[in-house]
Amino acid sequence: MAAPAPALLPEDADPTFAELLAGRPHLSLHAHDGLTMEEVPLARIAREVGTPTWIYSAGTLRRRFHALRGALEEARLPCEIHFAVKANPNLAVLRTLAAEGAGADIVSEGELRLALAAGIDPGHVVFSGVGKTPAELRFALAQGVGQINAESAEEVAMISAAAAETGRTAQVALRVNPDVDAKTHAKITTGKSENKFGVPIAEAPALYARMAATPGVQPVGVAVHIGSQITSGMAAYAAAYSALADLVRALRADGLPVERVDCGGGLGIPYRHEPAPSPAALAGAIRGALGNLGVRLMVEPGRWICGPAGVLLASVILSKHTGARRFVILDAAMNDLVRPAMYEAWHGIVPISPAAFHAPATPCDVVGPVCETGDTFARNRGLPALEPGSLVAFLDAGAYGAAMSSTYNARPLAAEVLADGARFAVVRERQTQDALLAAQRLPAWMAA
Ligand code: LLP
Repeated sequence: MAAPAPALLPEDADPTFAELLAGRPHLSLHAHDGLTMEEVPLARIAREVGTPTWIYSAGTLRRRFHALRGALEEARLPCEIHFAVKANPNLAVLRTLAAEGAGADIVSEGELRLALAAGIDPGHVVFSGVGKTPAELRFALAQGVGQINAESAEEVAMISAAAAETGRTAQVALRVNPDVDAKTHAKITTGKSENKFGVPIAEAPALYARMAATPGVQPVGVAVHIGSQITSGMAAYAAAYSALADLVRALRADGLPVERVDCGGGLGIPYRHEPAPSPAALAGAIRGALGNLGVRLMVEPGRWICGPAGVLLASVILSKHTGARRFVILDAAMNDLVRPAMYEAWHGIVPISPAAFHAPATPCDVVGPVCETGDTFARNRGLPALEPGSLVAFLDAGAYGAAMSSTYNARPLAAEVLADGARFAVVRERQTQDALLAAQRLPAWMAA
């Protein structure tokens, strides 16, 4: 006789809809209007803008930026916050954060142009990334970016060449790879020796000394970024920062100037019910290792600031029943939100209407219309019966959501909306079917 299936441990059970909302103060359920972000009912956005649509809470962006800055100030750390534009490159999001004093961490010419268009001072921009092209380096130097994080000896030579061509001096920090395991998903861990990022810490002193003798290159400090969605506590951060502090002391002992330390990003958020490391814990780790070095400190968070601020609003196309399985098929797909397909990521999925929110939930698979099985948002997720046209919101979709979307299956990019109090505005138009076609050309020999 088969043993009875073990009961789910409480910590293995998915959080309820009410538990999910409790941790997200910008979202609330209203008896008449249903799920509401700030003061804007999501159903109203669906009516006026359509679905799928990304919706960001301006108040949450501000609140989280201030919470992080407050924690750093509380720890008496002179620390600049450079928002990692890759997490959410929407111009209105960047402008909202810029107005609060955020600088930018960028990894391409496109991100630099967005940061500048959002009103961010080029002096508050850090150019990161393992493969910046000569043209990108020249553009960044001509714009006067405040710091370039170099990731190899080869790149230092490229920066020097770009400096000569533009007549500028590059302020360069050396990104080191501390070989620590941030215990996050393998695809987003960046600080282990087998990862492509940074230079081995043992090679850093010689390279830093070489930088000081390289024309057009002014070494200003060191940088580290060990991974993303770090929820395993502060041990990996503490190890990386203490290795960095040892490096700073060694460089200074060699008579080399070190004015800045860039502490990277990576602070995780609770999508399901992961332990959520606090900004205060991060500030403590920075202070503990780097607080007494007399350096300008920097952090480059993306997800922690903007992830919880966004939802992806989608409509049910239909529910399909095969044998005992129920598939809820949405008008959003992996081309919109790729995180579940790419990283097995869990996102809360909450019905919008008050009736559905309170109706009994039974397991179903939540999928998109794209023609591969990977286009699955959730398996065995508890949701109520959902009629065609019912709305659901994916929670915590403000980071690496719209930013990573594509037009796979010739599906236009979804609209983006910013909600601010009782106001909302479309901040990126839904891509039109015409725009999808517009850049394609038939060769002359195929013309009729
Ligand atoms: N700085 C550097 C050099 C980075 O490479 C990253 C992220 C950050 C800062 C910001 O990390 P955050 O604070 O957002 O964790 N697409 C993945 C995440 C990729 C992270 C890439 N680098 C996801 O959806 O989980």
